[in-house]
Amino acid sequence: MITRRAAILGAGAGLSVPAFLRRADAQGMMHDGMGGGGMGRMSDTEPAALQAGQPFRPMPEIDARGGTLALRAMAGETRFGTGAATPTMGFEGAYLGPTVRMRRGTTVNAAVTNGTEIPVSTHWHGLNVPSDADGGAPQSVIRPGAVWRAKLPLEQPAATLWYHTHVHGRTAPDQWAGLAGALILEDDESDALGLPSTPGLDDLVVILQDKKIGREGQAVYDPDMMTIMHGYLGDVVLANGQYAPVAEVPAGLVRLRFINASTSAQHTISFPRPARLIGVDQGLIPRPVEIADVTIAPGERVEVVVDMGDGGTVPISVAASLMGGMMMGMMGGDEVRHTLLSLVGNADIPAPGRVPERLTEDLGELPASVVERSFVLQENMGPMQRMRDMMGSGPVMAINGEPYDPDRISFTARIGTVERWSITAEGMAHPFHAHGVKFRVPDPRRPEETGWKDVVVINGTRELLVAIEAPSVENIPFMFHCHILEHEDAGMMGQFLTA
Ligand code: C2O
Ligand code: CU
Ligand code: CU
Repeated sequence: MITRRAAILGAGAGLSVPAFLRRADAQGMMHDGMGGGGMGRMSDTEPAALQAGQPFRPMPEIDARGGTLALRAMAGETRFGTGAATPTMGFEGAYLGPTVRMRRGTTVNAAVTNGTEIPVSTHWHGLNVPSDADGGAPQSVIRPGAVWRAKLPLEQPAATLWYHTHVHGRTAPDQWAGLAGALILEDDESDALGLPSTPGLDDLVVILQDKKIGREGQAVYDPDMMTIMHGYLGDVVLANGQYAPVAEVPAGLVRLRFINASTSAQHTISFPRPARLIGVDQGLIPRPVEIADVTIAPGERVEVVVDMGDGGTVPISVAASLMGGMMMGMMGGDEVRHTLLSLVGNADIPAPGRVPERLTEDLGELPASVVERSFVLQENMGPMQRMRDMMGSGPVMAINGEPYDPDRISFTARIGTVERWSITAEGMAHPFHAHGVKFRVPDPRRPEETGWKDVVVINGTRELLVAIEAPSVENIPFMFHCHILEHEDAGMMGQFLTA
């Protein structure tokens, strides 16, 4: 077993962390003036048990570029501060999972062992691989003690992807508990750009999860009916499980890969130094875009390069809120705001990274769409809902009037074509996601919506141009769903095949 601590200290076989970090971690770099009160104190709700200003711990890395990957899901417990421990789950550790590094042009044979006592699965979110390897289908659920094998042909461009559990009806609590990790796909084209790319040094993965903190200092997930309808919003947003940690980085360009692994909160991340958006869900965007902040909904990722200039301490803040939308006016004030992570620029650390003006080819015109489909995301099933309420079995949500049914395939899409999907959110906004495809948003509202995407916020009606990429195998379906996990678990999910 590899503990996270051991991995960070470089003791775990197959895991690597740069020597510099080992040194920094061992010395404990947090002193002068930080952690005393300046960091992470923007929130009124900060629980006393949490301590800002601890040294940032990068997730350990697993190198799957050689073609094999072994992961074990396990249960454990985690102390998020000085308070009581929280029962959590993770891959190769007690909470979250290692950053898995893969290379385009290779095929990875993955084996995931379920070392927990509950059914889990491992969906490679954003990886467009055959449906039997996607991990999101009911056929891919791993029973306690069992091993699931997946063959992953990696053909898409470099991107920050992620993996997480995906068992219908229990994705929200189990991902909340920690069954999620980052997946970095690299390729020759992105390597040639010279972007900051030393893991844990000038290239940091930051997995965001919000947590409610109970009186004993433990994290609490106990959704009631209202939470399931509107979403779960914690008191704090943790970065790789840490509250407002401090990362020592070069006094130059630093790349941050943010993954929203919250069940339902969206996060607005603000940068007090010059920052450029370079990538979204499915990879790099054509040109860097200067930004002061970015917003990511559950499931979304962004890559941002911050210029640490000549050093100093730079607090990067987060504002977490429920998704909002047309019917959610009252919920708008419900926001949590604090320092997510502080960067401290050290001029002695080399900063070789740069950001060229051109990152990828322009997206160009897509072939005309061959098929149009429309989907309505529904939170309230009317009379059926009232029945369920009376029976006390919780909300039933649906797409096009149909709550999730593992035996129903909604449609079959043709591989290699582009389809036009019109998605409507009734009531609140929903982050829509589909497996095995990538899409473009013809009317981007923010730079985060440019480029190839796999999650987008639907508020009202939006059109997507969907490139159908991955084959379905043996009638194992791909999923499409709302990435508010409480909604997904309540039935806002459907299945399709490709041919
Ligand atoms: Cu990230 Cu179907 O999920
Ligand atoms: Cu997915
Ligand atoms: Cu939703």
